[in-house]
Amino acid sequence: MQPEQVRSRAPGRVNLIGEHTDYNDGFVMPLALPFDTTLSIVRRPDRRVLLHSAGFEDLEFSLDDDPSDVGSWGRYVAGMAHYLEADGLAVSGFEATISTTIPVGASLSSSAALENAAGFGLTVMAGETPDPVKIATLGQRVENEIIGIQSGIMDQLISAVAVEGFAMRIDCRSLESTPVRVADNASVVIMDTMTRRELADSEYDLRRQACERAASTIGVSALRDATIEQVDAMSSGVDKRRATHVVNENARVLQAEQLLNNDDLTEFGRLMNESHYSLQTNYEVSSDALDQMSAIAREHDACFGARMTGGGFAGSAVACIDRSQSENFVSHVKRRWEDEAGTVPDVWIVEPAAGASAVVV
Ligand code: GLA
Repeated sequence: MQPEQVRSRAPGRVNLIGEHTDYNDGFVMPLALPFDTTLSIVRRPDRRVLLHSAGFEDLEFSLDDDPSDVGSWGRYVAGMAHYLEADGLAVSGFEATISTTIPVGASLSSSAALENAAGFGLTVMAGETPDPVKIATLGQRVENEIIGIQSGIMDQLISAVAVEGFAMRIDCRSLESTPVRVADNASVVIMDTMTRRELADSEYDLRRQACERAASTIGVSALRDATIEQVDAMSSGVDKRRATHVVNENARVLQAEQLLNNDDLTEFGRLMNESHYSLQTNYEVSSDALDQMSAIAREHDACFGARMTGGGFAGSAVACIDRSQSENFVSHVKRRWEDEAGTVPDVWIVEPAAGASAVVV
Protein backbone atom coordinates (compact mmCIF):
# COMPACT_ATOMS: atom_id res chain seq x y z
CA MET A 1 0.00 0.00 0.00
CA GLN A 2 1.34 3.40 -0.95
CA PRO A 3 0.05 6.07 1.44
CA GLU A 4 -1.14 9.53 0.41
CA GLN A 5 0.52 11.37 3.31
CA VAL A 6 3.65 10.80 5.32
CA ARG A 7 5.44 12.70 8.06
CA SER A 8 9.17 12.20 8.55
CA ARG A 9 11.82 13.59 10.84
CA ALA A 10 15.60 13.39 11.11
CA PRO A 11 17.86 14.87 13.79
CA GLY A 12 21.02 16.95 13.62
CA ARG A 13 24.11 15.69 15.40
CA VAL A 14 27.00 16.73 17.57
CA ASN A 15 30.25 14.79 17.45
CA LEU A 16 31.85 14.03 20.83
CA ILE A 17 35.17 12.83 19.42
CA GLY A 18 36.58 11.46 16.16
CA GLU A 19 36.85 14.45 13.84
CA HIS A 20 37.95 14.23 10.21
CA THR A 21 38.34 10.48 10.61
CA ASP A 22 35.20 9.33 8.78
CA TYR A 23 36.57 9.78 5.25
CA ASN A 24 39.70 7.92 6.36
CA ASP A 25 37.60 4.79 7.03
CA GLY A 26 38.05 5.55 10.73
CA PHE A 27 36.01 5.89 13.92
CA VAL A 28 33.67 8.63 15.15
CA MET A 29 31.47 9.10 18.24
CA PRO A 30 28.55 11.43 17.57
CA LEU A 31 25.09 11.61 19.10
CA ALA A 32 21.80 12.70 17.56
CA LEU A 33 20.34 15.97 18.84
CA PRO A 34 16.88 16.81 20.12
CA PHE A 35 16.79 19.27 17.18
CA ASP A 36 15.38 17.94 13.96
CA THR A 37 14.03 18.60 10.50
CA THR A 38 10.51 17.45 9.72
CA LEU A 39 8.79 16.94 6.40
CA SER A 40 5.04 16.72 5.89
CA ILE A 41 4.68 15.02 2.53
CA VAL A 42 1.55 14.72 0.38
CA ARG A 43 1.53 12.62 -2.77
CA ARG A 44 0.89 14.24 -6.15
CA PRO A 45 -0.48 12.38 -9.18
CA ASP A 46 2.34 13.64 -11.43
CA ARG A 47 6.14 13.99 -11.28
CA ARG A 48 6.21 17.54 -9.91
CA VAL A 49 7.72 18.41 -6.53
CA LEU A 50 6.67 21.49 -4.54
CA LEU A 51 8.58 22.47 -1.42
CA HIS A 52 7.51 25.01 1.20
CA SER A 53 9.56 26.17 4.14
CA ALA A 54 8.79 29.18 6.33
CA GLY A 55 11.17 32.04 5.64
CA PHE A 56 12.22 30.68 2.23
CA GLU A 57 10.80 31.00 -1.24
CA ASP A 58 8.76 28.02 -2.42
CA LEU A 59 10.65 25.70 -4.77
CA GLU A 60 9.21 23.68 -7.62
CA PHE A 61 10.84 21.14 -9.89
CA SER A 62 10.20 17.88 -11.72
CA LEU A 63 11.60 14.48 -10.74
CA ASP A 64 12.91 14.37 -14.31
CA ASP A 65 15.05 17.51 -13.83
CA ASP A 66 18.75 17.17 -13.15
CA PRO A 67 18.89 17.58 -9.32
CA SER A 68 22.03 19.73 -9.67
CA ASP A 69 19.90 22.33 -11.47
CA VAL A 70 17.40 22.63 -8.60
CA GLY A 71 17.73 25.81 -6.55
CA SER A 72 19.55 26.10 -3.20
CA TRP A 73 18.35 23.76 -0.42
CA GLY A 74 15.92 22.03 -2.81
CA ARG A 75 18.94 20.15 -4.20
CA TYR A 76 19.15 18.05 -1.02
CA VAL A 77 15.57 16.85 -1.50
CA ALA A 78 15.85 16.55 -5.29
CA GLY A 79 19.11 14.61 -4.90
CA MET A 80 17.59 12.14 -2.45
CA ALA A 81 14.56 11.60 -4.69
CA HIS A 82 16.87 11.07 -7.65
CA TYR A 83 19.15 8.49 -5.99
CA LEU A 84 16.25 6.64 -4.36
CA GLU A 85 14.55 6.34 -7.72
CA ALA A 86 17.80 5.25 -9.37
CA ASP A 87 18.00 2.60 -6.64
CA GLY A 88 14.62 1.21 -7.70
CA LEU A 89 12.22 2.97 -5.32
CA ALA A 90 8.80 3.99 -6.70
CA VAL A 91 9.12 7.75 -6.15
CA SER A 92 6.06 9.84 -7.10
CA GLY A 93 5.68 13.58 -7.27
CA PHE A 94 4.88 15.25 -3.95
CA GLU A 95 4.30 18.45 -2.08
CA ALA A 96 6.21 18.87 1.18
CA THR A 97 6.31 21.38 3.99
CA ILE A 98 9.66 21.48 5.70
CA SER A 99 10.52 22.87 9.09
CA THR A 100 13.60 22.61 11.24
CA THR A 101 14.84 23.38 14.73
CA ILE A 102 18.49 22.75 13.76
CA PRO A 103 20.50 25.95 13.59
CA VAL A 104 21.93 26.24 10.08
CA GLY A 105 25.71 26.68 9.75
CA ALA A 106 26.34 25.75 13.39
CA SER A 107 28.16 22.48 12.45
CA LEU A 108 25.16 20.48 13.68
CA SER A 109 24.39 18.79 10.32
CA SER A 110 21.22 20.46 9.18
CA SER A 111 21.83 19.28 5.61
CA ALA A 112 22.23 15.61 6.59
CA ALA A 113 18.98 15.90 8.54
CA LEU A 114 17.17 17.26 5.48
CA GLU A 115 18.56 14.45 3.31
CA ASN A 116 17.51 11.79 5.81
CA ALA A 117 14.07 13.28 6.44
CA ALA A 118 13.50 13.25 2.67
CA GLY A 119 14.98 9.75 2.33
CA PHE A 120 12.89 8.22 5.11
CA GLY A 121 9.75 10.08 4.06
CA LEU A 122 9.92 9.14 0.38
CA THR A 123 10.68 5.52 1.21
CA VAL A 124 7.58 5.20 3.42
CA MET A 125 5.60 7.09 0.76
CA ALA A 126 6.60 4.35 -1.70
CA GLY A 127 5.22 1.73 0.69
CA GLU A 128 8.67 0.45 1.70
CA THR A 129 10.53 0.16 5.01
CA PRO A 130 13.52 2.53 5.24
CA ASP A 131 16.98 0.98 5.39
CA PRO A 132 18.80 3.58 7.56
CA VAL A 133 22.33 2.73 6.40
CA LYS A 134 21.34 2.76 2.74
CA ILE A 135 19.56 6.11 3.08
CA ALA A 136 22.62 7.56 4.86
CA THR A 137 24.84 6.35 2.03
CA LEU A 138 22.57 7.99 -0.56
CA GLY A 139 22.64 11.22 1.48
CA GLN A 140 26.43 11.17 1.36
CA ARG A 141 26.22 10.75 -2.42
CA VAL A 142 24.02 13.85 -2.59
CA GLU A 143 26.74 15.80 -0.74
CA ASN A 144 29.55 14.35 -2.84
CA GLU A 145 27.98 14.40 -6.28
CA ILE A 146 25.29 17.08 -6.22
CA ILE A 147 26.42 19.58 -3.58
CA GLY A 148 30.06 18.93 -4.48
CA ILE A 149 31.64 18.46 -1.02
CA GLN A 150 33.70 15.31 -0.52
CA SER A 151 32.33 14.77 3.00
CA GLY A 152 32.30 11.45 4.84
CA ILE A 153 29.41 9.35 6.14
CA MET A 154 29.28 10.45 9.79
CA ASP A 155 26.54 13.09 9.67
CA GLN A 156 24.04 11.11 7.61
CA LEU A 157 24.75 7.86 9.44
CA ILE A 158 24.30 9.13 12.99
CA SER A 159 21.15 11.00 11.97
CA ALA A 160 19.79 7.75 10.52
CA VAL A 161 20.83 5.12 13.07
CA ALA A 162 21.03 6.90 16.45
CA VAL A 163 19.54 5.21 19.51
CA GLU A 164 17.84 7.50 22.03
CA GLY A 165 19.90 8.01 25.18
CA PHE A 166 23.21 6.96 23.62
CA ALA A 167 26.17 8.31 21.71
CA MET A 168 27.20 5.93 18.92
CA ARG A 169 30.69 4.70 18.17
CA ILE A 170 30.66 4.24 14.42
CA ASP A 171 33.12 2.29 12.33
CA CYS A 172 33.10 4.29 9.09
CA ARG A 173 34.51 1.33 7.14
CA SER A 174 32.01 -1.38 8.09
CA LEU A 175 29.30 1.24 8.88
CA GLU A 176 28.55 -0.65 12.09
CA SER A 177 27.57 1.39 15.10
CA THR A 178 27.76 0.57 18.80
CA PRO A 179 25.73 2.53 21.38
CA VAL A 180 27.89 4.16 24.06
CA ARG A 181 26.31 5.49 27.22
CA VAL A 182 27.50 8.79 28.64
CA ALA A 183 27.26 8.53 32.46
CA ASP A 184 24.13 9.99 34.09
CA ASN A 185 26.17 12.49 36.06
CA ALA A 186 27.50 14.07 32.85
CA SER A 187 25.84 16.50 30.45
CA VAL A 188 26.75 17.28 26.88
CA VAL A 189 26.69 21.01 26.14
CA ILE A 190 26.78 22.65 22.72
CA MET A 191 28.16 26.17 22.54
CA ASP A 192 27.50 27.97 19.27
CA THR A 193 30.10 30.68 18.59
CA MET A 194 27.55 32.18 16.16
CA THR A 195 30.36 32.40 13.58
CA ARG A 196 29.49 30.90 10.20
CA ARG A 197 31.86 29.53 7.63
CA GLU A 198 32.23 30.74 4.13
CA LEU A 199 34.31 29.14 1.42
CA ALA A 200 35.46 26.43 3.81
CA ASP A 201 34.41 23.61 1.49
CA SER A 202 37.59 23.84 -0.56
CA GLU A 203 39.60 23.58 2.67
CA TYR A 204 37.65 20.44 3.56
CA ASP A 205 38.46 18.83 0.21
CA LEU A 206 42.15 19.79 0.60
CA ARG A 207 42.27 17.98 3.95
CA ARG A 208 40.81 14.91 2.38
CA GLN A 209 43.34 15.00 -0.48
CA ALA A 210 46.22 15.35 1.99
CA CYS A 211 44.97 12.26 3.83
CA GLU A 212 44.73 10.29 0.60
CA ARG A 213 48.28 11.30 -0.36
CA ALA A 214 49.55 10.33 3.09
CA ALA A 215 47.84 6.93 2.86
CA SER A 216 49.41 6.28 -0.52
CA THR A 217 52.87 7.39 0.71
CA ILE A 218 52.58 4.92 3.56
CA GLY A 219 51.17 2.24 1.28
CA VAL A 220 47.75 1.67 2.90
CA SER A 221 44.32 2.04 1.32
CA ALA A 222 43.15 4.49 4.03
CA LEU A 223 44.75 6.12 7.08
CA ARG A 224 42.60 3.85 9.24
CA ASP A 225 45.21 1.18 8.49
CA ALA A 226 48.28 3.31 9.24
CA THR A 227 50.21 3.14 12.51
CA ILE A 228 51.73 6.16 14.23
CA GLU A 229 55.20 4.66 13.60
CA GLN A 230 54.49 4.70 9.87
CA VAL A 231 53.36 8.32 10.09
CA ASP A 232 56.42 9.25 12.16
CA ALA A 233 58.62 7.82 9.43
CA MET A 234 57.12 10.21 6.80
CA SER A 235 59.16 13.24 5.84
CA SER A 236 57.87 16.33 7.62
CA GLY A 237 55.31 18.55 6.01
CA VAL A 238 51.60 19.17 5.79
CA ASP A 239 50.65 15.59 4.85
CA LYS A 240 52.49 14.22 7.86
CA ARG A 241 50.71 16.61 10.24
CA ARG A 242 47.32 15.75 8.78
CA ALA A 243 48.05 12.02 9.07
CA THR A 244 49.31 12.45 12.64
CA HIS A 245 45.96 13.92 13.58
CA VAL A 246 43.92 11.19 11.89
CA VAL A 247 45.87 8.24 13.30
CA ASN A 248 45.88 9.62 16.85
CA GLU A 249 42.24 10.71 16.63
CA ASN A 250 41.16 7.21 15.61
CA ALA A 251 42.97 5.82 18.64
CA ARG A 252 41.31 8.44 20.83
CA VAL A 253 37.83 7.33 19.75
CA LEU A 254 38.50 3.72 20.69
CA GLN A 255 40.00 4.79 24.00
CA ALA A 256 37.09 7.17 24.62
CA GLU A 257 34.62 4.32 24.16
CA GLN A 258 36.36 2.31 26.88
CA LEU A 259 36.60 5.31 29.20
CA LEU A 260 32.90 6.10 28.83
CA ASN A 261 32.05 2.46 29.44
CA ASN A 262 34.00 2.77 32.71
CA ASP A 263 32.41 6.15 33.56
CA ASP A 264 35.87 7.74 33.54
CA LEU A 265 34.75 11.23 32.56
CA THR A 266 37.97 12.91 33.65
CA GLU A 267 40.10 10.94 31.19
CA PHE A 268 37.42 11.16 28.51
CA GLY A 269 37.44 14.95 28.89
CA ARG A 270 41.20 14.99 28.59
CA LEU A 271 40.88 13.20 25.23
CA MET A 272 38.35 15.79 24.06
CA ASN A 273 40.86 18.52 24.86
CA GLU A 274 43.64 16.62 23.06
CA SER A 275 41.38 16.21 20.05
CA HIS A 276 40.83 19.96 19.96
CA TYR A 277 44.55 20.79 20.13
CA SER A 278 45.28 18.32 17.37
CA LEU A 279 42.54 19.81 15.15
CA GLN A 280 43.94 23.26 15.90
CA THR A 281 47.62 22.55 15.28
CA ASN A 282 47.98 19.43 13.12
CA TYR A 283 44.78 19.56 11.12
CA GLU A 284 44.36 23.37 11.11
CA VAL A 285 40.57 23.40 10.94
CA SER A 286 39.82 25.31 14.13
CA SER A 287 39.30 29.08 14.35
CA ASP A 288 39.97 31.78 16.95
CA ALA A 289 36.30 31.63 17.96
CA LEU A 290 36.32 27.84 18.38
CA ASP A 291 39.59 27.96 20.33
CA GLN A 292 38.24 30.70 22.56
CA MET A 293 34.89 29.01 23.18
CA SER A 294 36.59 25.73 24.11
CA ALA A 295 38.99 27.60 26.42
CA ILE A 296 36.11 29.42 28.14
CA ALA A 297 34.38 26.08 28.74
CA ARG A 298 37.56 24.59 30.22
CA GLU A 299 37.88 27.49 32.70
CA HIS A 300 34.87 26.15 34.60
CA ASP A 301 35.35 23.48 37.27
CA ALA A 302 32.41 21.45 35.92
CA CYS A 303 34.11 20.94 32.54
CA PHE A 304 35.68 17.54 31.87
CA GLY A 305 36.70 18.55 28.36
CA ALA A 306 35.76 20.76 25.41
CA ARG A 307 36.51 20.89 21.72
CA MET A 308 35.33 22.14 18.35
CA THR A 309 32.81 19.82 16.71
CA GLY A 310 32.14 18.99 13.07
CA GLY A 311 34.09 20.16 10.05
CA GLY A 312 35.54 23.24 11.76
CA PHE A 313 36.40 26.85 10.81
CA ALA A 314 33.21 28.14 12.51
CA GLY A 315 30.04 26.95 14.22
CA SER A 316 29.91 25.13 17.53
CA ALA A 317 32.09 23.68 20.25
CA VAL A 318 31.00 20.82 22.50
CA ALA A 319 31.76 20.17 26.16
CA CYS A 320 31.21 17.29 28.54
CA ILE A 321 30.47 18.60 32.02
CA ASP A 322 29.38 17.62 35.52
CA ARG A 323 25.59 17.61 35.26
CA SER A 324 25.05 18.92 38.80
CA GLN A 325 26.66 22.23 37.77
CA SER A 326 24.94 22.59 34.38
CA GLU A 327 23.15 25.87 35.00
CA ASN A 328 26.16 27.52 36.52
CA PHE A 329 28.31 26.31 33.61
CA VAL A 330 25.90 27.69 31.01
CA SER A 331 25.80 31.13 32.63
CA HIS A 332 29.59 31.15 32.90
CA VAL A 333 29.98 30.40 29.17
CA LYS A 334 27.42 33.01 28.15
CA ARG A 335 28.87 35.72 30.37
CA ARG A 336 32.49 35.07 29.42
CA TRP A 337 31.69 34.82 25.71
CA GLU A 338 29.79 38.09 25.77
CA ASP A 339 32.72 39.73 27.58
CA GLU A 340 35.28 38.44 25.11
CA ALA A 341 33.45 38.31 21.78
CA GLY A 342 30.69 40.85 22.33
CA THR A 343 27.99 38.53 20.93
CA VAL A 344 25.36 36.38 22.64
CA PRO A 345 26.06 32.67 22.06
CA ASP A 346 23.45 29.94 21.93
CA VAL A 347 24.27 27.31 24.55
CA TRP A 348 22.27 24.10 24.83
CA ILE A 349 22.38 21.15 27.21
CA VAL A 350 21.39 18.20 25.04
CA GLU A 351 20.21 14.63 25.62
CA PRO A 352 20.92 12.04 22.89
CA ALA A 353 17.88 11.64 20.62
CA ALA A 354 16.69 8.84 18.34
CA GLY A 355 17.56 8.60 14.65
CA ALA A 356 15.31 9.43 11.71
CA SER A 357 11.82 7.99 11.27
CA ALA A 358 8.76 8.34 9.07
CA VAL A 359 5.10 7.50 9.63
CA VAL A 360 1.95 7.37 7.55
CA VAL A 361 -0.53 10.08 8.60
C1 GLA B 1 31.70 17.40 8.30
C2 GLA B 1 31.49 16.24 7.33
C3 GLA B 1 31.68 14.90 8.04
C4 GLA B 1 32.98 14.85 8.82
C5 GLA B 1 33.16 16.11 9.67
C6 GLA B 1 34.52 16.18 10.32
O1 GLA B 1 30.70 17.39 9.28
O2 GLA B 1 30.22 16.30 6.77
O3 GLA B 1 31.61 13.86 7.10
O4 GLA B 1 34.07 14.68 7.97
O5 GLA B 1 32.98 17.29 8.92
O6 GLA B 1 34.68 15.15 11.25
